[in-house]
Amino acid sequence: MSSPFFKRLVYWFAPHGLVKRYEFWRHKIDAKRIYSAYRLPERELVEIFPGIERQVVGLTPGSFFRPPTMVLPLAELLTLMAICQHKSFQKAFEIGTFSGESTQAIALSTPPESRVSTLDIQAYEPGLAFAGRSEAGKIEVLIGDSRHFDFSAYAGQCDFVYIDGNHTYPFVKSDTEIALRLLKPGGVILWDDYIFDPAHPDCSGVKQALEELSLPRLYRIKGTRFAVHCSQ
Ligand SMILES: C[S@@+](CC[C@H](N)C(=O)[O-])C[C@H]1O[C@@H](n2cnc3c(N)ncnc32)[C@H](O)[C@@H]1O
Repeated sequence: MSSPFFKRLVYWFAPHGLVKRYEFWRHKIDAKRIYSAYRLPERELVEIFPGIERQVVGLTPGSFFRPPTMVLPLAELLTLMAICQHKSFQKAFEIGTFSGESTQAIALSTPPESRVSTLDIQAYEPGLAFAGRSEAGKIEVLIGDSRHFDFSAYAGQCDFVYIDGNHTYPFVKSDTEIALRLLKPGGVILWDDYIFDPAHPDCSGVKQALEELSLPRLYRIKGTRFAVHCSQ
């Protein structure tokens, strides 16, 4: 009576098994319904960046435990780091510093000579994640509204732009146009929150702005909320 078949039978009909199966299928159906509304083609990270599977990324313990809002979930922080490490970006520009966690992640996963500029409408210093750490030497902290900031010194200079500022449509549209101007040939743009939480409909601007763009090589990264554009 203790055969694997019997165990499976018991599991299948036991109340907890039924609940698990219900949850499994409900999750699958919900995911299908939610993702079918997103029109960018979905790609695995390794399809977009062949060879990225060889990267090993490292984080400081301060980044392990993450608040539920505003900062990237751990898997996405690691995805961001893997992309930066794989591409060895020399000049990165971030819109939306907040606590500096993603800025720090970019700085930690790019070569020592690379530079990272990060812009926020508010000043969060001195509490930024990289304050007092060696990677701070690579980071330029800028304060300003991305709609009015003078980006001319960065035009055509960046091989990576990370867009994570105001998530409403007019801002994302404007930040995206700016990013395209900052980008060098071969550069990469990454947007957070292409997949947005329905509890925050104000974040739907990323989806709306990106889906109306006719940009080649623009994808949703499978398993994340990121969208990415590789200029070549
Ligand atoms: C989601 S948080 C950024 C989180 C950060 N990238 C991270 O993952 O650790 C968004 C940030 O964008 C900033 N922001 C909002 N509107 C902005 C604007 N017009 N220009 C620049 N920054 C803006 C906010 O002050 C906020 O700190």
